Amino acid sequence: MSNNDAMLLQEAERARQSSYSPYSNFSVGAALLLESGKIVLGSNQENASFPAGLCAEGVAVFSAGTNFPDEKIKTIAITAASQSTQLDHPAAPCGICRQSIAEYEKKQGTPIQIIMKGQTGPIYICDSI
Ligand code: THU
Repeated sequence: MSNNDAMLLQEAERARQSSYSPYSNFSVGAALLLESGKIVLGSNQENASFPAGLCAEGVAVFSAGTNFPDEKIKTIAITAASQSTQLDHPAAPCGICRQSIAEYEKKQGTPIQIIMKGQTGPIYICDSI
């Protein structure tokens, strides 16, 4: 893993601190690296209509799509933690977020690298959704 990847995971971990997840007790943070070097953060946000809240990845990619529509997303780092057990593997984006990321790849014409980490265990890196 490169220094840049490690730094982006740290940013995802910072984003995870703002998770509002009292219904799942599962907090997720996402950090997007844009081509300009800007970083956009997201964390999962829930409410009593659970599971109809927003995923960390969704918050981050829609924020980038809104605020930086002409910038390509290079990488998304995702960290996840369970408040009830030790998460020993990464969390992978859900189907809705995969669809969003796939469409942003198509829109920008380049792949988006995904880095995923749990609390312990392996780190997964994929070249594209
Ligand atoms: N969640 C994410 O934010 N990203 C993922 O990749 C997996 C799941 C959130 C949704 C919900 O708030 C909680 O984690 C439990 O599923």
